[in-house]
Amino acid sequence: MSEPAILVENVSFDYPRGPRALDGIALRIDVGERVAVVGQNGSGKSTLVRQFNGLLRPTVGTVSINGRPIGRRHVAELAREVGLAFQNPDRQIFAGSVRAEVAFGPRNLGLSQSERDAAVERAIVTVGLDGDEGTNPYDLGFSRRKCLALASILAMETPIVILDEPTTGQDARGIDRVKRIVSDLSAAGRTVIAVSHDMRFVAESFERVIVMRAGRIVLDGTPAEAFADAAWPTLASTYLEPPLAARVGARLGLGTTPTEASLVGALVERAADGR
Ligand SMILES: Nc1ncnc2c1ncn2[C@@H]1O[C@H](COP(=O)(O)OP(=O)(O)OP(=O)(O)O)[C@@H](O)[C@H]1O
Ligand SMILES: [Mg+2]
Repeated sequence: MSEPAILVENVSFDYPRGPRALDGIALRIDVGERVAVVGQNGSGKSTLVRQFNGLLRPTVGTVSINGRPIGRRHVAELAREVGLAFQNPDRQIFAGSVRAEVAFGPRNLGLSQSERDAAVERAIVTVGLDGDEGTNPYDLGFSRRKCLALASILAMETPIVILDEPTTGQDARGIDRVKRIVSDLSAAGRTVIAVSHDMRFVAESFERVIVMRAGRIVLDGTPAEAFADAAWPTLASTYLEPPLAARVGARLGLGTTPTEASLVGALVERAADGR
């Protein structure tokens, strides 16, 4: 069997002078999986994903990427394997133009100038910032700065891509764009992990949902499992509500319908049965 993309063994993490943010996490994410991490504010989602690219190092336990423990490996080296688009784009963005921002990461990847330019342009087009290559990032609105932070990560073309709250501040078109990016990355065999509060996005774009509460994983399953009514008390314990489609399906006695498409499918089936 091939090495997991990410292996987390018995990881706890304490912020200096802060709380215990992760408490005994064990997790295996296989290559090519699409995984969403959900949970109440402060449950440790961002802290968890920051362990995956070495931004934070476990207080206890081990994180391995593609079979190799992170140990003391440098963030710059890990950046070839793992890209992390920050929850707050303003903590990531530092360059004076959109193009310079996106071009920064690929500079150190040993690509030729033309390969690099192509990767940068591809990433800019993918997030819909073409035409704004020369714009100062701080002249962009929040949602477009989120897109820029995402483009910088996409341009690195890493096998593992982590998106921390990618749909925050996005309108319906922006959310559709993020969904397409997730599905394209996945179709290309890359491992995609997203932290999100948007349960509809989670149900529609991911095959696995990890639910966190107070630094621990309290549920790990498919969207159908995570949003089934048996799981609702667990979700409520971390202040989450299942997506609307799941709630409607349950009210109508249709079983678990985490997505609009599954809800409509169940309704059509019921109508055909004449029930
Ligand atoms: N830099 C920091 N220093 C000290 N404590 C921190 C720091 N960052 C986060 N924490 C604390 O660690 C815990 C986990 O925070 P984290 O940001 O990982 O949560 P989260 O699940 O991503 O929350 P949100 O949904 O609000 O983004 C919280 O109690 C938070 O206050
Ligand atoms: Mg967070």
